[in-house]
Amino acid sequence: MKIIDNVKELKEEIKKLKGSIGLVPTMGALHDGHLSLIKRATRENDNVVVSVFVNPIQFAPSEDLDKYPRQPEKDIQLCKNEGVKIVFIPKISEMYSDDKGNLTLICPPYNVVDKLCGKSRPGHFDGVCSVVAKLFNLTKANKAYFGQKDAQQLFIVKKMVRDLNFDVQIVSCPIIREPDNLALSSRNKYLTQNDRKLALNISKALFNLKKLFTQGVVDIRDLVDVSLKIMDGLDVEYIEFVDKNTFNFKTKADRDTLVLVAARVPESNTRLIDNIKLWE
Ligand code: PAF
Repeated sequence: MKIIDNVKELKEEIKKLKGSIGLVPTMGALHDGHLSLIKRATRENDNVVVSVFVNPIQFAPSEDLDKYPRQPEKDIQLCKNEGVKIVFIPKISEMYSDDKGNLTLICPPYNVVDKLCGKSRPGHFDGVCSVVAKLFNLTKANKAYFGQKDAQQLFIVKKMVRDLNFDVQIVSCPIIREPDNLALSSRNKYLTQNDRKLALNISKALFNLKKLFTQGVVDIRDLVDVSLKIMDGLDVEYIEFVDKNTFNFKTKADRDTLVLVAARVPESNTRLIDNIKLWE
């Protein structure tokens, strides 16, 4: 396995690869969710490239860029165990030679970023799309693997690929959960014991919603009320019902509905996201 920290060498090594290339873009602190993407990429491609890069331009100044968990040695070992061909782990200066105000960015349209996570994280998806586009260009990936936990990110990246004719297939991979249903996230590392207990109420609320829907409850106000009761003690930023194909808001729940939640837990002030399809 090659460990590469610069663009020049990455381009050279990519040229040498024979067969298909699967890219797993990550910000490191790899957990079983990432490993499920890497395993799938390994099954479906001749070569797998994992990028490990905490992308500064997708963090607002008030966010957790500095304390975001970093464990490069462990990440490299995990990739090695999975048979990854290249780990690309660049410094910020390799990816961005200019300051943010002077960079060419890919900015998804307002109507897809003015809601859900985009609403409280202005500029976040510009940063995500821009780094993902760079990684597509640098790795020449045939397929790229993204988790469904970041559902709005997945939707926006797919749209970018369609709109800008990137020659890469986006593979959408299921959310991986702990046995007690907490969705895996690198930010779970921040959780105190109390926070973790409270955080469980996010998935509890979502699974309960799905149950209520299958029992015939379709009124969104009723579904939100019950869910907010379950998530009492959490600071719920949003609970929203969208069409899973268009991300347009729903007026009533149906089989195409995706329910998304973002909430903060009180002690560590960690912001967590999760979602569920009401039918599949
Ligand atoms: O989902 C993530 O970890 C990041 O947003 C991504 C896609 C690696 C871009 O920095």
